[in-house]
Amino acid sequence: MSVTILVGAQWGDEGKGKVVHFLSRDADIVARYQGGANAGHTVVANGCTFVLHLLPVGALWPHVICVIGAGVVVDPSALIDEIEQLEKAGFDISGRLFISHQAHLIMPYHKLLDRMAEEKSPREKIGTTGRGIGPAYVDKVARTGIRIVDLLNHDILRAKLRRNIEEKNLVLSRIYETEQLDEDQIIQEYLEFDKRIDPYVKDVSVFLTDAIQEGKKILLEGAQGTLLDIDAGTYPFVTSSNPTAGGALTGLGIGPRCVEQVVGVLKAYTTRVGHGPFPTELPGELGVRLRETGTEYGATTGRPRRCGWFDAVVARYSARVNGVDTWAITKLDVLTGIDPLKVCVTYEDGRRTYRNFPAVPHILEGCRPVYEELPGWSENIQGARRWDALPLNAQNYLRFIEELSGVPVGIISIGPDHDMTIVRDWG
Ligand code: IMP
Repeated sequence: MSVTILVGAQWGDEGKGKVVHFLSRDADIVARYQGGANAGHTVVANGCTFVLHLLPVGALWPHVICVIGAGVVVDPSALIDEIEQLEKAGFDISGRLFISHQAHLIMPYHKLLDRMAEEKSPREKIGTTGRGIGPAYVDKVARTGIRIVDLLNHDILRAKLRRNIEEKNLVLSRIYETEQLDEDQIIQEYLEFDKRIDPYVKDVSVFLTDAIQEGKKILLEGAQGTLLDIDAGTYPFVTSSNPTAGGALTGLGIGPRCVEQVVGVLKAYTTRVGHGPFPTELPGELGVRLRETGTEYGATTGRPRRCGWFDAVVARYSARVNGVDTWAITKLDVLTGIDPLKVCVTYEDGRRTYRNFPAVPHILEGCRPVYEELPGWSENIQGARRWDALPLNAQNYLRFIEELSGVPVGIISIGPDHDMTIVRDWG
């Protein structure tokens, strides 16, 4: 029973990449279970900065086997680019990357439809990453999607592609009055992808179940975050998959009894990209300071992230819906020099107090955060390697998060490098 699920506990961009890289040094297998190339996991390894969108971060350790599960939507061109980038940097992926035959493929029309829906549809803007994620999951649920396994049979692939392209062309011309898709070109392109992807295709449910029985150490790597979850998040301002812990099981085809622990990743403050409610947002100078000190710009789209105070209502909610055992707190160093610090403990809307997160945008929009103030610290904390080397006020800030969320803090990240990490009470 050596499976750990790692989830983002806010609106994504919690710094999961750094934590996954840290933990996967001791792992045999790292598996991605949902999302697609909308993720942007930034990792500093061997003195270089890598941004991985689709490949599990474990790819940066030569001993780690990487798995992409059925819950992921795979953009083959993004995948091939990423494999090539890593190979150029000296990381050999061959023989240690497996992709589920059941994973769905992102097609060029998904990216086009994603863009069109954001630019031209009368529906509310989500602020998507434009990577075709929503339209690909729409096809999956509508049972018209194209899966990796379809690449293996060219007749099936051609027939499915023809039907899909015919339908999408109708939508593109009649609703969006825009360019038509070139059927032959897309078919040719995907037949070529097949040659490149074929060596990696596997029944990953069987592979992982065998590995669990052999006692291998397995890390399940979530992308995005709890509040972007299609069910648990701030719908409709969410992504189209399940980044929460339950998604790890369905997305990889394994049962719940193998899970030993759930690690939730929380940034020491809060950020969000895209539209939607964000109760502790700081629109003024302090928000800009957090963005600049924390380099809060989207790793996938470069968009500036909205920044705000730490929200313990969110932390409590994430602890509950994911069953979090331990927090990994990231970017604590970004708070150095801010005094006092504020932490949101509840919300109120003039009529009632909310201790539990109301995951409904129109209620959230009417909520005002209720803050408690804590004294900050001014010492540079990036050199700390032990809990007791942190200033007392930093320790108290973390203790306050523990107290409000009911979950202990096990890992503290105090800078981008691998060794800028404090491990505390880590089982
Ligand atoms: P989509 O996943 O591209 O459809 O975007 C839906 C929402 O999720 C938008 O608000 C995006 O900004 C947000 N989102 C998607 N992926 C990430 C991520 O990796 N980090 C943070 N936000 C994300």
